[in-house]
Amino acid sequence: MHLRLLSLGYGNVGQALVRMLAEKEAELREQYDLTFGYAGIYTRSSGGLVLPDLSPADLGEAGWPYTLEGGSELGPVADILAFIRETPADVVLELTALDPHSGQPATDHIRAALEAGKSVVTANKGPIAYACRELRQLATERGLALRFESTVLDGTPIFDLAEFCLPATRIFGFQGPLNSTSNYVLSRMAVGEPLEQAVRGAQQLGVAEANPAYDLDGWDASVKATVLANVLMGADLQPADVRRDGLGAEAMRAAQARLQPGQTLKQMVEAEEQGGEVAARVYLAPLPSTDVFAHLSGMETGLRLRTDTMGELTLIEGEGGPGQTAFGVVADLVNIARRPNPLPPSLRGKGQ
Ligand SMILES: NC(=O)c1ccc[n+]([C@@H]2O[C@H](COP(=O)([O-])OP(=O)(O)OC[C@H]3O[C@@H](n4cnc5c(N)ncnc54)[C@H](OP(=O)(O)O)[C@@H]3O)[C@@H](O)[C@H]2O)c1
Repeated sequence: MHLRLLSLGYGNVGQALVRMLAEKEAELREQYDLTFGYAGIYTRSSGGLVLPDLSPADLGEAGWPYTLEGGSELGPVADILAFIRETPADVVLELTALDPHSGQPATDHIRAALEAGKSVVTANKGPIAYACRELRQLATERGLALRFESTVLDGTPIFDLAEFCLPATRIFGFQGPLNSTSNYVLSRMAVGEPLEQAVRGAQQLGVAEANPAYDLDGWDASVKATVLANVLMGADLQPADVRRDGLGAEAMRAAQARLQPGQTLKQMVEAEEQGGEVAARVYLAPLPSTDVFAHLSGMETGLRLRTDTMGELTLIEGEGGPGQTAFGVVADLVNIARRPNPLPPSLRGKGQ
């Protein structure tokens, strides 16, 4: 199978994906008979470009911003939704920046792609947090795929695990330190570094949002909690429904000062069923040394699922980033090729 891709956003993740598709070209072709070409790219500042089904290797070599030989150049796009509809792509990649307060304009991008008969892979969690039911229903009605493995813990297989490896399983809760910036900052504070300096360190490493309050105040974690609760537990939450208790810079300093010997402070996400409803929250937790999450350092993150078949299952991601996120997109693309009819049986009734 050959899939033509339209990349909306071409930043850290978009470019890491091109490198990975080029590096893994032989494995993908030999193991899955799968090849890729780029039909287009769109970015906020440079505009849009329709490409001639260009191979990832050629696109990677051309660099960025890309100028097509012969004169066709990136240019402003008057109507991004028309550009999405009209670019001859099979799969639209939603790799634009997250707006944690609305999920836009990425939600509109995905709706336009699905309405135009194109499957979608998104690493942007906003649309899945704000419009999961609507978008999944639209994809189902059109017989298209909507995959989003990279939206939580980069490419760590959470949704694939639930879909392919946990048949007939009910997930009734989850917990974990999901925001790498907060946990990096807390681990630096634990060795005496001031919070502001630790935040600057996270920004220099390229992990913190430009506005670190998105991380420290729990917005990033709330969006992730919403995605997990809605997809894995069939909830119908919005990020504002996630309780954010005692977060932010001041609370971090105070909680760090109150720690008892042997405790480690983490920003945790938690969800559980209460009387048929799913409640989720983000909070600062002083973890005892017996908790595996207390031993995660720096930007490491983790997730514990509570299930009725396997009891507790814990996933830990070493330090992630654009490469791991790009891998999640590759996994989603392989799954689209392996299952052209995308209705995921184990998740069909959940979150829709
Ligand atoms: N980086 C990671 O490790 C990671 C991990 C998990 C998930 N994600 C998610 O993956 C997505 C991409 O992340 P990234 O690190 O690649 O971000 P990035 O480096 O900031 O790149 C974002 C890209 O999206 C474009 N863009 C932003 N807003 C846009 C808009 N309204 N319309 C069209 N294009 C727009 C930007 O264009 P300009 O440069 O022209 O503004 C840029 O090309 C984000 O949603 C992020 O939350 C990232």
